[in-house]
Amino acid sequence: AQTVARDAEGTVTVGGVDVKTLAEQHGTPAYILDEADFRARARAWRGAFGADADVFYAGKAFLSRAVVRWLHEEGLNLDVCSGGELATALSAGMPADRIAFHGNNKSKDEIRRAIEAGVGRIVLDSFQEIVRVAHIAQELGKRQRVQIRITVGVEAHTHEFIATAHEDQKFGIPLAGGQAAEAVRRALRLDWLEVIGIHSHIGSQIFDMSGFEVAAHRVVGLLKDIRDEHGVELPEIDLGGGLGIAYTSDDDPREPHEIAKALTEIVTRECEAARLRTPRISVEPGRAIVGPTAFTLYEVGTIKPLDGLRTYVSVDGGMSDNIRTALYDAEYSVALVSRTSDAEPMLARVVGKHCESGDIVVKDAFLPSDLAPGDLIAVPATGAYCRSMASNYNHVLRPPVVAVNDGESRVIVRRETEDDLLRLDVG
Ligand code: LLP
Repeated sequence: AQTVARDAEGTVTVGGVDVKTLAEQHGTPAYILDEADFRARARAWRGAFGADADVFYAGKAFLSRAVVRWLHEEGLNLDVCSGGELATALSAGMPADRIAFHGNNKSKDEIRRAIEAGVGRIVLDSFQEIVRVAHIAQELGKRQRVQIRITVGVEAHTHEFIATAHEDQKFGIPLAGGQAAEAVRRALRLDWLEVIGIHSHIGSQIFDMSGFEVAAHRVVGLLKDIRDEHGVELPEIDLGGGLGIAYTSDDDPREPHEIAKALTEIVTRECEAARLRTPRISVEPGRAIVGPTAFTLYEVGTIKPLDGLRTYVSVDGGMSDNIRTALYDAEYSVALVSRTSDAEPMLARVVGKHCESGDIVVKDAFLPSDLAPGDLIAVPATGAYCRSMASNYNHVLRPPVVAVNDGESRVIVRRETEDDLLRLDVG
């Protein structure tokens, strides 16, 4: 976990830096990211999968140039899904052949840039894209390595909006009705594509490994059909990301080595049964690497007790820096970090400063009843899908990401300014 510690006097430090100092130096709200923890998690994933597999960090969870450099140094690859993520990755020196390019509606320009840059793989998401990518590869005279993303038809047990392997949704090509097999058939016919494998991503914030098992079984089944029909054994499979993290103490995440062991065993077993060479496996964890490494530091503003209900605690950010509670009913915890308190706990709801009653950061939490304006509170596990999904709603400025390490803090994404906002407003 993050190297958060509270000493005997109640001083909270992260990465060796006092949170009050962080608030003074960088202001609030701010995402405080523990670099050592990030690197340790990245390394744990890399180590768990070993030399015969690849770990692609999913940039959508959180991407910045510092993060790209850490990943590069720790031996991970990178999954990007837009021109913007690609530009960030390349500008921070990630070798293009370690980048996978995803997306259900990549523009022609994005495809062109990805091929020109020499990305290691483009993950094809539709019949039209198979042709589109082949055309652009031909125009550029560069044969492109591709995977084909399929939907295996499993229901991942997670929120509807982040489940992606059932068939009635926009991602991938359904295995059902022979569609995935037809996609492979068409792609194999196109000389400008080098089909290296099959991709499946079943969803996000998943704890139950059985969905991955079914997915692996079906992906290997397709590999077997491809071998039988075309006489080729595709050398790679990607099982996507989606491993859950603990947002509250109820969640019980798996360790990377357990996940690696489980996935490798399933694939090996299935391949042996089908008499296939075991393909190179890759995975795409985002949340599981960056999620737990950061918390959001807020300053408490207005406190409004509502008799018989709860106390509304307003902070200086809100749904613009963490949309997950409003969007997915996500659960978070919160702690007072600028001092200790022996006061009775009170039922609180941590809300933001936006003009919307759904602007909730933590729905139900206990905070000390002597909480006062100016106190600092921290909401843990906001490293994934918070800064990356942040908005400027109400022209609120997006918070900085501050990396802490070894007693030092450094801004890796600076706070937005009103000048930044006005610069875009050219009317
Ligand atoms: N690979 C693919 C193809 C994906 O679509 C995703 C996530 C990942 C990997 C990484 O999944 P992870 O390991 O981070 O769960 N905004 C939502 C999550 C959306 C995930 C989208 N795709 C949230 O805040 O929960």
